[in-house]
This record gives sequence, structure tokens and C-alpha cells, in this order.
Amino acid sequence: MPKCLIRYFTATGNSKKLAATAADFLQLEGLQVTVSSIERRSPEYDSYELYGFFFPVHAFGVAMTMEDFIRDLPPAAADKAFVVSVHGDTSSVPGHPGDAVRQAATMLAAGGYDVVAGTSVGMPVNFVAAMNAPSPEAAADIAHRAQEQLRGFLKRLVRGEAAPQLVRQPLGFLFSVIHRFYRFGLRHFNLLSRFFYADGRCDGCGICERLCPAGDIAMVKGEPQWGGKCHACMRCINICPQSAIQLPTGTRHRRRYTEPHLSIDELTEEIVRRP
Ligand SMILES: Cc1cc2nc3c(=O)[nH]c(=O)nc-3n(C[C@H](O)[C@H](O)[C@H](O)COP(=O)(O)O)c2cc1C
Ligand code: SF4
Ligand code: SF4
Repeated sequence: MPKCLIRYFTATGNSKKLAATAADFLQLEGLQVTVSSIERRSPEYDSYELYGFFFPVHAFGVAMTMEDFIRDLPPAAADKAFVVSVHGDTSSVPGHPGDAVRQAATMLAAGGYDVVAGTSVGMPVNFVAAMNAPSPEAAADIAHRAQEQLRGFLKRLVRGEAAPQLVRQPLGFLFSVIHRFYRFGLRHFNLLSRFFYADGRCDGCGICERLCPAGDIAMVKGEPQWGGKCHACMRCINICPQSAIQLPTGTRHRRRYTEPHLSIDELTEEIVRRP
């Protein structure tokens, strides 16, 4: 039976949900599928016929945590791979993946992968810094549509009809310039986490510190303090059980979002801190 390994990064659960949906679908198609978070130690890398990479879109490109992961992958020997980027929709405004699929596909191809297909799927938006998350009902509708769209893509993938999307889309150059500026700002000026603070609702539980994929948060005298390594994934602000984490962009009254199946216990088990 052909074996498939799906690696995913998720901040708030969307990419994980779609990775699980893909695994269920591909298993029904006769593949043996392993799904593994990139925050977990790597499973064996040389014994799979197909690799899948799932990750959120950040600023029209690949989320930084996934970008670093792909860059550090050992060279592949023309292993077949597909890419699914997960962008953010609201109930009224669809998100946009920008150049994320092509960017990931290009990086994987440079690492020796034979990228046979790529797509982007819209799940509920988690960018609380700038917008309200959709209501639970609207989020459920968006997630339902996303799963249908993903199954359609996977159907084409197994039939050999899906496209790799290695060609830049019409506005791709603009998107990739925006993403480069954004990444530069994050890496060199700590664009986001310098503005995070915890308000009076914080009870010092330490969940944000434990679950930050970049290891950017330290509890000091019972309160979180942010450092200079933030990947702007928005996990901390969305997952805080007290909604105590804020940015000075009006987040106090905004709805948070996590995918309903995302569990703090499971995330805690998955995390392996980068040095
Ligand atoms: C810093 C940041 C930037 C984002 N930029 C985009 C974007 O350019 N386009 C888009 O459609 N969604 C964008 N989003 C929304 C996420 O891609 C979307 O909510 C995604 O489904 C989250 O997946 P996850 O739960 O697996 O982390 C952004 C989110 C964050 C945190
Ligand atoms: S997760 Fe929220 S309540 Fe817990 S320490 Fe962090 S900010 Fe405070
Ligand atoms: S500080 Fe928050 S937004 Fe930044 S990487 Fe950690 S969890 Fe993500």
C-alpha cells in the first residue's frame, strides 16, 4: 500500500483540521497516511511515496514557522509532494492566499521534491489583530465548504489531474514583495510581539508560554512577557482561555477563534521547542 506523510503547522487548528480531512480521504483511496505536526519530532523521512504540507497563509505567503521548517528539511530524492495553504475567510469577505502556494512549492522543489499539486483553501480567519473572527455558526459553514473544496482537490490529485501551481499568479509578484517586507519586519524589528500585553483578566495559567511555537513568551512574576522571536502566528491571543492578551488595535472587544477540535492538551504534547 503506498504510504503518505502529511506534515502540518497550525496556529489555531485550521490547517490541522484540513490535514486530518485529507488523511481520511486518502486512506479511503487506499493510501496509508501518517499525519504529524511540525512541532513534533520528525518521523522517518525516507519511506513515503507522497508528502503533503499544510500551513496557514500569513501576509500573502507561507507562515514563518513552516517556512523555517521547509528550509531545514533534509534534501529529498525527487519525492512526490503536494502543498495546501490555508487562508482566512470571514462570512462576508473571502481571504486571499497571495503567493503562498507557489512560494512553498518553489522552496520544496529547491529541496529536491517533485511538487505535483498545490492549492489554497479558505478556513475561518484568525487575524484578531485586524478583524473579528466569524461567529461559530459562520465558522462552521466556512469550514464545511473548505473540506468540500479540499476533497475536490484531492480527488484530482489521486487521478493525476491537479496542478502544481509553480507559475506565479497575475498579482503574485506584488504579493511576494508584501510578504518579503512583512517577514523582514518580523525578523528584524519584532513587528508584532513588541505590542502584545496581558490585561487584568490574566490569571497567570502559563498556557500562552507553553504553547508559543517560537518560544517567545516567558512568565515573569506570574505574567507573560514577549521577547523578540515571535512568528506572528496569533496562537497566543486566540487560545488564551481568559481572552486576556491584547494588541493596541482594538482587540479587547474582538471575538477570538480556534478550530473547535483544537485541544490545549494535544497541542502541549505536540510542541518541541526550537533551540
Ligand atoms: C499574521 C497573519 C497574517 C495573515 N494573512 C493572511 C492573508 O494574507 N490572507 C488570508 O486570506 N488570510 C490571512 N491570515 C489568516 C489565516 O491564514 C487563516 O485564518 C488560517 O486559516 C489560519 O490557519 P491555522 O488555524 O492553521 O493557523 C493571516 C493570519 C495571520 C495570523
Ligand atoms: S494564557 Fe492568558 S491567562 Fe494564561 S498566562 Fe497567558 S495571558 Fe495569562
Ligand atoms: S508570541 Fe504569540 S503570536 Fe508570536 S509566535 Fe508566540 S504564540 Fe505566535
